[in-house]
Amino acid sequence: MGGSGPRFYGRRRGKKLRPGRQALIDDLLPRLCVPAEGPVDPAGLFDPVAADVWLEIGFGAGEHLAAQAAARSDIGFIGCEPFVNGVAALLAQIAGQGLENVRILDDDARLLLPRLTDASIGRVYLLYSDPWPKKRHRNRRFVQRETLDDLARVLKPGGLFRFATDHMEHARWALRLAANHPDFKWTASGPRDWRRRWADGFATRYEEKGLAGPDRVYLEFRRR
Ligand SMILES: C[S@@+](CC[C@H](N)C(=O)[O-])C[C@H]1O[C@@H](n2cnc3c(N)ncnc32)[C@H](O)[C@@H]1O
Repeated sequence: MGGSGPRFYGRRRGKKLRPGRQALIDDLLPRLCVPAEGPVDPAGLFDPVAADVWLEIGFGAGEHLAAQAAARSDIGFIGCEPFVNGVAALLAQIAGQGLENVRILDDDARLLLPRLTDASIGRVYLLYSDPWPKKRHRNRRFVQRETLDDLARVLKPGGLFRFATDHMEHARWALRLAANHPDFKWTASGPRDWRRRWADGFATRYEEKGLAGPDRVYLEFRRR
């Protein structure tokens, strides 16, 4: 990424895409892409009109996003992911399952958040985002005061921010920042609420492939 935008530290490319996956990037992605510049009113991205719009940040290979989109055809989904092989994997699921309620920004979510209309998103998922365990790398974590300010602005009152991690220090970091943020309230009333995946949730690839450790934390914050 050039210019004065946020710096992305993850991978943008993995191994060379198979021709079928490359064709999805060339032909299907342009039809599903969120505009790369200018203000974005999420409601205007979906036809027929969606009952609500939910955002997934860092969808990886898109299993969770595709499962949510299949389960909730009334909801419009926006997924942000800079890793092109992951985007191609999601496109394969969209094409294979005939999903019509998914839009994609194949880039850093921090480039989209400031462009979204105020109070336009009903739910945000951030699942197993990179924990950047070294102390000197913590400023690379997605959850920072600034990103929480952006999430608070784009979430509707009562909207949900859901965060999962298997890294306890990362969980404490997110909890400290989000629970102390004036616009968010942690919804848990006991350990059962943060020890188990949400009842309407689906496994991510990270969970399915056993990449996630046994200690998993599911934090949910409600926009005041
Ligand atoms: C550890 S993986 C988890 C992927 C997926 N959520 C899962 O659970 O299987 C984290 C993902 O977040 C993506 N990511 C990191 N920073 C991001 C950002 N600023 N905006 C959007 N995606 C990001 C990475 O490219 C990577 O695919």
